Amino acid sequence: MKLARTVAPEALDHLPTQDPAAQRSRRDLMRVHQAMGSCAILRRAWQSLVPVWPSGRPLRILELGAGDGTLLLGVARALAPHWPPVHLTLLDRQDLVSPVTRSCYEALGWTTELDVTDVLDWAQPPPGERPAPRWDLISTALFLHHFEGEHLQRLLAAVAARADRFVACEPHRHWLALAGSHLVGAIGANEVTRQDAVLSVHAGFQGDELSALWPGERDRWQLHERGAGLFSHCFCAQRREATP
Ligand SMILES: C[S@@+](CC[C@H](N)C(=O)[O-])C[C@H]1O[C@@H](n2cnc3c(N)ncnc32)[C@H](O)[C@@H]1O
Repeated sequence: MKLARTVAPEALDHLPTQDPAAQRSRRDLMRVHQAMGSCAILRRAWQSLVPVWPSGRPLRILELGAGDGTLLLGVARALAPHWPPVHLTLLDRQDLVSPVTRSCYEALGWTTELDVTDVLDWAQPPPGERPAPRWDLISTALFLHHFEGEHLQRLLAAVAARADRFVACEPHRHWLALAGSHLVGAIGANEVTRQDAVLSVHAGFQGDELSALWPGERDRWQLHERGAGLFSHCFCAQRREATP
């Protein structure tokens, strides 16, 4: 079944941070990620993009649309024993990362920084002659599907200009994921999550849609895009001459 892509505002993005329904929906997301296998999908993607790290400095990783920052904790717990030290920046337009979450990263040897910014402001060129900050890896989950058209292109252009590697783990716009999204009530999700899950799948990706939008010079990047697990769509981009 070919589902047309439709992007509609999601309830969680418009509820105040402290709204009990929003807080509950953010907790529901952890269970949704368990069902989607997001943590394992991201871990495998990160490992394939960074198989070795001979450089002596920490890896600089940025998560766009990081929410409360807990999703990547699972990835960090799996990778920290085998990986180089990481400096992780968590960007979201809402200030949601708790001191407890930050201390969990720090216990693993990962330093953290919060950037409470709208991503479309982040994507603007920096003022004056200042160079834009660069990242070894930019990662997103359940985030890119909020964007379409010129905003999505601007966002991908900023990522391609500022990173050597990029991973996006998004809803798969596919009948199986759509069926799953209608069943998130079965894992205890509240009304906000139930509604947003369905909207997210309609706004998700399939085929090589993100590769087709990737703005970098094609021969300079290796792109991989595929369905991942039962409900996810994973896109990876790696600059061929990526450092180190
Ligand atoms: C569905 S949540 C996903 C959170 C997290 N990535 C996860 O998977 O648990 C989407 C997140 O994107 C953030 N967001 C939406 N639009 C944004 C924007 N324009 N700039 C920055 N963050 C945004 C929301 O605040 C929210 O935390």
